[in-house]
Amino acid sequence: MHQDEQKALVANEAVSLILQEISAGEILGIGTGSTVNLFIDALAPYTKHFKGVVSSSEASTARLQGYGFLVFDANEVNDLIAYVDGADEINPRGEMMKGGGGALTREKIVAAMSNQFICICDSSKQVATLGKFPLPIEVIPLSSAHIQRLLEKKWGGKVSLRTVKNQASEIFVTDNGAWILDVSDLKIEHPKEFEMELNQIPGVICNGIFALNPANTLIVSSSAGVKRINY
Ligand code: 5RP
Repeated sequence: MHQDEQKALVANEAVSLILQEISAGEILGIGTGSTVNLFIDALAPYTKHFKGVVSSSEASTARLQGYGFLVFDANEVNDLIAYVDGADEINPRGEMMKGGGGALTREKIVAAMSNQFICICDSSKQVATLGKFPLPIEVIPLSSAHIQRLLEKKWGGKVSLRTVKNQASEIFVTDNGAWILDVSDLKIEHPKEFEMELNQIPGVICNGIFALNPANTLIVSSSAGVKRINY
C-alpha cells in the first residue's frame, strides 16, 4: 500500500474514533502536516459536530476555515477535549519527534492545552530510539549561531539552519517569525531529560521532542491495515 493511502487510512480512523468518543459541542485541537491535511479533509463533513477548533499553524487554519470550521484563538479557550496531529518519529512509549513542517511551538502549546494527544501516522514513523530524523529547534534569530555552536560542541550534532524548500538561499521563517535549526546525528536515549535540557538554552523557543507530554493514543497504518495503540 502506498504511503499516501496509509495516511488516508489513519485520517479516516481518527475521524471514526473522534465521532465515537467525543460528544457534540466540544472544541478540538488540530495539528499540521500532510497526514493532518487528510484528517481535516475527512473531518469536513462533520463541522457541525464541533463547537470549533484550535489550530497549530496558519496553513491548517486556512484549510479548516475553507471547510467552514470555526477556528478559535488559543487564548479564547480554556482546554481542549483532544489534539490530533502527526509525527516525524514515535517510539514505543509514545514519545515523539515533531516539527518537520515547522509548526512545533504551536503544536506543543495546543497539545499542552488538550486532555489527550491522538497521534496519527504511518508505520514508517515508528522507531525504537528517537533521533534518526533531524531534531527541529525553533530559535530567536539572533541566537542561532551561538546555539548552533553549542549543539555541535556539547552534543556532537550536525546543525543546519532550515531554508525554504527548493530555495536554499531563503531562510525558513516560522509562523512566530523565528528560525529553525535542524540537528542530525543525535541518538536520543533519554528524551524527557534532553527536551528539558534544550529548553534551558537562552534563545531556544521550543524543541521538537514531545516526551514530557507524549501521545496518549497512536493510530498507525501499515500495509497490513490500521491499528490503535493506547499508552
Ligand atoms: C509539523 C509536524 C508534523 O506533524 C510532522 O512533520 C509529520 O508530518 P506529515 O504528516 O506530513 O508526515 O510536526 O510541524
